[in-house]
Amino acid sequence: MIEFSQRLRALPGYPLAEIPTIKRRLIEAGMDVIDLGAGDNDTPPPGVAVAAMTDALRDPAYSKYGFQQGLPAFRQAASRWVERRFGLRFDPTTEMLPLIGSKEGLSHVPFAVVNPGDATIVPEPGYQAYLGGSILAGADPYIAPLRPENGFLLDLEQVPDAVLRRAKLVFVNYPNNPTAAVATPEYLQRTVAICRRHGILLAYDNAYCDLTFDGYRAPSIFEIPGARDIALEFFSLSKSFSMTGWRIGFAVGRLELVTALTRVKSYVDTGPFLAVQKAGAAALDQAEALVAPIRAELERRRDAAVAALREAGFALEAPKAAMYLWVALPAGVPSAAFAKRTLEETGTVVLPGSAFGLAGEGFFRIALTVGADRLRTASARLGQTLAATGRGELAPTT
Ligand SMILES: Cc1ncc(COP(=O)(O)O)c(C=O)c1O
Repeated sequence: MIEFSQRLRALPGYPLAEIPTIKRRLIEAGMDVIDLGAGDNDTPPPGVAVAAMTDALRDPAYSKYGFQQGLPAFRQAASRWVERRFGLRFDPTTEMLPLIGSKEGLSHVPFAVVNPGDATIVPEPGYQAYLGGSILAGADPYIAPLRPENGFLLDLEQVPDAVLRRAKLVFVNYPNNPTAAVATPEYLQRTVAICRRHGILLAYDNAYCDLTFDGYRAPSIFEIPGARDIALEFFSLSKSFSMTGWRIGFAVGRLELVTALTRVKSYVDTGPFLAVQKAGAAALDQAEALVAPIRAELERRRDAAVAALREAGFALEAPKAAMYLWVALPAGVPSAAFAKRTLEETGTVVLPGSAFGLAGEGFFRIALTVGADRLRTASARLGQTLAATGRGELAPTT
């Protein structure tokens, strides 16, 4: 018999893993399913990306291994975009690294800095790749709870000194998944200062930087003086360009840090498909025009869903960014039971807060991945489940 590793056994169940099976069963049973689970928009990828990909597929040169250097045109387009977007310069050849989606880079970065038993600092609730990557690399993840009273900010000042001393890496993600919280420059300055003091690599996950509303502008970590010494920033084309399945993103940072991640990756993958890199370059070069309508549509969806959820009995604020609503449940209502009942009885997929770790309990997450009308229908259905909990039909178990 095969015995699996302690690391494999330490991985918690991945939150989205079971949903496709349940969904299929409900659809086969004739239910009208509204899936607000994964952060995967229903909007199509940009035409320029599709055209560039189509051209690349006809040219055999793009069918070769990309290796870590990849397509120079992608690195150059990414570097130009960072400069236009944040006013920051990074060398396309040595300070950028194409990723097979930012998840791939985020989950591999612990291998570059962690020795067995070292700590990584992982936000909870949070994107589960931080925890999984830490465990697989043999780190000892320290779970930092994100609390509503603290604006869902990962506060390194609350982390015990003993942990900070053995920490090699912290994952910071604003605009945040799943809470949709955003960070102030003062918070980022404090965080950079602590990472510098303790020599902690700051993995700044900026996957949602362009999905912002009400005029809010999300910064790069590198706008904070001193961040270049200790940070790597991760960007994704998935959400801003509706290209989730294409698997393309990139990391940015100073030469030594990018080189370390490159070295890890050179043993586990051979870079994103070059044709996808060509498509990514085309999208990045037109980012401003392409992202504006996606952002506007998400803002419409946010407004529709927030209003409908309030009408259905939920109390929530309209978030300034990302593509999620993080909705509080009444005290004592278990989020997993709430989400399961909503799915089984109304065909509406939302993610229970507990899927993002224990500190996510008491909330559920809605992804704004369908149009305003469908979001209104889904909100009314969630209101039905809420009413059932008010009648005491949802026992505070599980
Ligand atoms: C916070 C966060 N970071 C990174 C990712 C990964 O994005 P991708 O691997 O598609 O670039 C996601 C995806 O949902 C996310 O929510």
